[in-house]
Amino acid sequence: MTNYDIGIDLGTTSIIIAVADEGVILNESSVVAYDTRKNKVLAVGDAALAMVGRTPSYISAIRPLKDGVISNHTLTKELISSFVKKVYNARMMKPRVAVCVPAAITGIESDAVVEAVVSAGARQVFLIDEPIAAALGSGLDILQPDGRMIVDIGGGTTDIAVISLGGKVLSAGLAVAGNTFDEELIKFVRQKFSVAVGQRTIETLKKEVACCPQKDFSASMETKGRSLITGLPQKITITTQDLYEPILPLVEQISTVAHQVLEKTPPELAGDIYRNGIMLTGGGSKLQGLPEYLSEQLKVKVELSPDPINCVALGTAKCLSMGEQLESGFVNATPRLGR
Ligand SMILES: Nc1ncnc2c1ncn2[C@@H]1O[C@H](COP(=O)(O)OP(=O)(O)OP(=O)(O)O)[C@@H](O)[C@H]1O
Ligand SMILES: [Mg+2]
Repeated sequence: MTNYDIGIDLGTTSIIIAVADEGVILNESSVVAYDTRKNKVLAVGDAALAMVGRTPSYISAIRPLKDGVISNHTLTKELISSFVKKVYNARMMKPRVAVCVPAAITGIESDAVVEAVVSAGARQVFLIDEPIAAALGSGLDILQPDGRMIVDIGGGTTDIAVISLGGKVLSAGLAVAGNTFDEELIKFVRQKFSVAVGQRTIETLKKEVACCPQKDFSASMETKGRSLITGLPQKITITTQDLYEPILPLVEQISTVAHQVLEKTPPELAGDIYRNGIMLTGGGSKLQGLPEYLSEQLKVKVELSPDPINCVALGTAKCLSMGEQLESGFVNATPRLGR
């Protein structure tokens, strides 16, 4: 029945669905467009993302998961239901579903997620912690008595965990992640160039131009925005070197928390991590030069996951076939709903 095991990464930025034997089958933005006059959902996913910043006042394009927590239950359910139904409809059997939920969400919030998955047609629902899923999806054998450290930099949160014997030994999180980089870059460009630029342009700048100084990389991008002085459209050229200023304090914060986790790690496991290195996962970890920067700060080898964006969904789908072997961070949530 493994064909019907589905893994869902319910992320702040995107919702990614994977099937154990097939890989990723859906990747859409975690956005819902809502008509406040008619109290009706107009679009979900990428279709809703295309509306961000372009809607009339009565339509809101909302990210129902914000900073790693569920800020709008109803719309989160809408988001899950529509994509899960879309995936199920293509299949005959009711699937078993594992969902990776943000680490900071509460029991009540995760109940709402489980309910949405069940009402969309799941036979059983399991919840898995993001670092465990990220490690599995990055191809790490986490069942061995061998310490592994995962740093998952998503859109809303960065989760850092030490894993051994299929369970989480210790973990920490911070609200500095991909979205924070975007916000800080927007502020920086306003201050330094007196130009207001849109969120999408900034995200492209982050992906294509920004870099930590440890890496020998240099790029520039001609960016269009609105001058804060004249109010008219203006072109500016932004370089990698310009962006060191806003990027460095952010990567420093991530490094500090990773350092604190290493300090608290029991010596045997710390030794393992020294040997195995740290695995970076999540879209935010694709920032140029980040492995080199963290490696220099933490004096440990740092490696980027083979598939940083999809590894959580892939690992979530995979965990269903190895459920009993996972010590913690993996629970059958179906009984909560009295099934
Ligand atoms: N090449 C890149 N360089 C820098 N950042 C990137 C790159 N590609 C994607 N990102 C960033 O990764 C973030 C999304 O990562 P991911 O898909 O792992 O988040 P998520 O799982 O939805 O969020 P969370 O785990 O916090 O709920 C976005 O902020 C995006 O801008
Ligand atoms: Mg994530």
